[in-house]
Amino acid sequence: MQSILAQSFYSEDLFMNKIAMKPGTLLAPLPPVLVSCGDMEQSNIITIGWTGILNTQPAKTYISVRPERHSYNIIKESGEFIINLPCESLVRAVDWCGCRTGSKYDKFAQLKLTKKLATKVACPQIDECPITIECRVTEIVPLGTHDMFVADILAVNIDEKLFDDKGKIRIEKAHLMAYAHGEYFALGRRLGSFGCSVKKKRKAPPKNKKGK
Ligand SMILES: Cc1cc2nc3c(=O)[nH]c(=O)nc-3n(C[C@H](O)[C@H](O)[C@H](O)COP(=O)(O)O)c2cc1C
Repeated sequence: MQSILAQSFYSEDLFMNKIAMKPGTLLAPLPPVLVSCGDMEQSNIITIGWTGILNTQPAKTYISVRPERHSYNIIKESGEFIINLPCESLVRAVDWCGCRTGSKYDKFAQLKLTKKLATKVACPQIDECPITIECRVTEIVPLGTHDMFVADILAVNIDEKLFDDKGKIRIEKAHLMAYAHGEYFALGRRLGSFGCSVKKKRKAPPKNKKGK
């Protein structure tokens, strides 16, 4: 019997000669996110790659931020931030917010991004982003180069364009980005959905007498 895995491998995907490297951060792909902080008047945006989900219920996330970043003290003092998920067309804004500091630039103004009132925190949402996640810090964990801000997710805001007529979120319509080993990528084609490897195939409906 052919293994389930073998069926899905193409010959060029058989990577079987690993070279051991020193410890590093090559976990990919990651979502490069625009983290907004501060309030509607005094705000900043920092690009963050070190982020993810920590827990489902209660919904918890984290961002790891170097203490020397301008955003660090803003987030530490307010205890709030918003993770804004950028679409492909925002790639230059993502990179710019990760190369320039808010101590020298008003990033919203420079990039002509729109501030939008959030529902649970004082930080502005970036309106151009299709999905925004409002967060409140619960813990700061010093790890070495970065401090991890552990946070509760208080609200998730999703652009109405992402819903289909049955109310289902069509995430592909958000055209989200991926970050892998210093490069930005658009997401490729859909490969399947959660549970597809164990899903029972639907039986074909019985044919009628005319074979239709
Ligand atoms: C793709 C990308 C990912 C980044 N990820 C992080 C990160 O996870 N943590 C961090 O402290 N800095 C990260 N940076 C660097 C900051 O975004 C950058 O130093 C920024 O200028 C800091 O802005 P600020 O001084 O206004 O806070 C990243 C930069 C880029 C381009």
